[in-house]
Amino acid sequence: MKIPSSSATDLEKKDLRHMVSMKDFTTEEMDNMMELMSMLKEARKDNAIPHLFKDKSVAMIFEAGSTRTRISFEVAATLLGGHGLFLSPKDIHLGSGKESIDDTARVLSRMCDIVMARTNSPDTIDALCRMSTVPVINGLDTRFHPTQMLADLFTIKEHITDGRKLSDLTLAFMGDATDVCRSLLLTCTKYGMNFKQIGPKKYQMQQEWLDMADEFCKESGASYEITDDVEKISECDVVYGDSFYWVTQLDEKKERLAAFMPDYVITEELMSKAKPGALLLHCLPANDKEEVTREALEGPQSVAFDEAENRLTAQMAILVYFTHKFSKEPTEEVKKEHETKIKDFLKNI
Ligand code: CP
Repeated sequence: MKIPSSSATDLEKKDLRHMVSMKDFTTEEMDNMMELMSMLKEARKDNAIPHLFKDKSVAMIFEAGSTRTRISFEVAATLLGGHGLFLSPKDIHLGSGKESIDDTARVLSRMCDIVMARTNSPDTIDALCRMSTVPVINGLDTRFHPTQMLADLFTIKEHITDGRKLSDLTLAFMGDATDVCRSLLLTCTKYGMNFKQIGPKKYQMQQEWLDMADEFCKESGASYEITDDVEKISECDVVYGDSFYWVTQLDEKKERLAAFMPDYVITEELMSKAKPGALLLHCLPANDKEEVTREALEGPQSVAFDEAENRLTAQMAILVYFTHKFSKEPTEEVKKEHETKIKDFLKNI
């Protein structure tokens, strides 16, 4: 069934795909996205990125602050020949309660080619997906951070040595069961990578997500472990850091820091206890007085800033991957026909 639209897209309902969580994609699809990233990264090095998003627009809704996600999507759209529209709650009616999410999705779908949203509630992203007739990309809700996951897998793959594959590795997330920790648990076990959360019992992963990971492990052969034992770092090839508290948890800051520090802080000493050549990743922003030290973050094992740069590589691939089927390429003849008609009209008014 064709989706009604007045834009230059030509969508079939069966081709419409949203990106809410990486767990919704097969290993083959994740590999395809990473292959696309690899090609686009090479093209960027040669300053020769093909304009595969030419004349297209990505609507970027940000209910919460962002440095990496905002900049990477906007720059990716520009590099690919298109445009990113930054929409904060101050800029559109969605934030003021004057217009429903459903109507916002309907209108954005008529004018833009893809929607990216960082929302304060999973309900908002789910409603956007339900009503939008163009792809919706989750730029972080309180559950998942799929665009971060794609950059993370790619960054690890880029830095693996000795012919190892992602599925040969064990990744340890240090600290709280954040949205990034949950996303890593599900993405790693779906992809076939082993996962550990190393953090105090009170802040460990909820059972419903472990049940989902159990299903993924059965299919992929991966395993996971949730532990408070920091010594388990010796089994890990990748150490991953994130904030010990989010901006909405400032009232818990003192209690959380007491639970996590000093045992779960990523230091050079902790990194030296991981497997030889282990990588340090951090989704950033980082607090170098809390979850990671400046020395570790800037040390030889850290690839955190390569990871941040790969957010741009990932967003370029995402914009192309989710929209390429819908592009209606006009012939030169059709373009000329419209131009002549409009110019003739303008001459006479
Ligand atoms: N890691 C991440 O999503 O960064 P921003 O919050 O700056 O987008």
